[in-house]
Amino acid sequence: MAYNLLKGKRGIIFGALDHKSIAWKVAEKAHEEGAIFTLSNTPTALRFGELDELSKKTGAEVIPADATSVDDLINVFETSMKVLGGKIDFVLHSIGMSLNVRKKRVYNDLNYNYLQKTLDISAISFHKMLQVAYKLDAINEWGSVLALSYIAAQRVLYGYNDMADAKALLESIARSFGYIYGRERKVRVNTISQSPTKTTAGSGVKGIDGLMDFTDRMSPLGNASAEECADYCVVMFSDLTKKVTMQNLYHDGGFSSMGMSLKAMSMYNKSLEVPIDLDEE
Ligand SMILES: NC(=O)c1ccc[n+]([C@@H]2O[C@H](COP(=O)([O-])OP(=O)(O)OC[C@H]3O[C@@H](n4cnc5c(N)ncnc54)[C@H](O)[C@@H]3O)[C@@H](O)[C@H]2O)c1
Repeated sequence: MAYNLLKGKRGIIFGALDHKSIAWKVAEKAHEEGAIFTLSNTPTALRFGELDELSKKTGAEVIPADATSVDDLINVFETSMKVLGGKIDFVLHSIGMSLNVRKKRVYNDLNYNYLQKTLDISAISFHKMLQVAYKLDAINEWGSVLALSYIAAQRVLYGYNDMADAKALLESIARSFGYIYGRERKVRVNTISQSPTKTTAGSGVKGIDGLMDFTDRMSPLGNASAEECADYCVVMFSDLTKKVTMQNLYHDGGFSSMGMSLKAMSMYNKSLEVPIDLDEE
């Protein structure tokens, strides 16, 4: 059901790759809620992903950009304002990638060139986006900027590797830039910390199926899906949340407040005999 929450709003959505992407669901919902927006992803993702289909469905122009390139980001903001006919009201940063994870380098044997890339792509690109938007004065008063995070920024979840450090930096950037953007231009900046979700990026997380089963058992409301995350993003882009800024907002069915649940403990008790291999991490 649509509520017209984003009627008359203009946005930019970074990071939709295929049907499973969280950004893809956000684009569908934002369209249903009356927004107009542009879509952006890397030239490689445009070649191998399914973005054309989303572009047709939502009437959104696609603007290629590597989010680590300031020039590319300037082009995305300038072109978006031109195509959409005015300043921007909402931006979604839905971008993450770790070469250490991809190349199976564990956390106590990181390749530091890969680490720089992880941080640049998954966190510093958010600062670049905000700084570009700020300098171009591209976002309207009471506009809303969101990035997607994960609880490994606060708590250790084995195997999440250097992405945990990237998410911690991402959340810190939301607070630090959120202060300046709020003070000077009344723009909101937040992160949403989402449950594990089976997307292309999510499938790269070590033991994603077991992890999702565990977090589902631990969460009183169960894991949050990509569609539910998109609903939350829409609310955060709407005028109903005008005074929410500099927050990391958990969207995880209650997982972040749990220590142990009955459902998880009953499963744990069944498998106490299974040996563990610490070298696997
Ligand atoms: N899937 C999960 O379990 C989960 C949980 C919490 C948070 N998140 C976060 O949600 C966000 C979206 O991920 P997703 O799960 O929808 O997976 P996804 O693979 O669909 O999206 C990741 C996107 O990042 C893009 N990207 C990678 N490098 C880029 C670059 N240099 N410039 C621009 N874009 C680039 C990819 O092309 C892709 O579209 C990520 O920040 C991810 O960390 C995911």
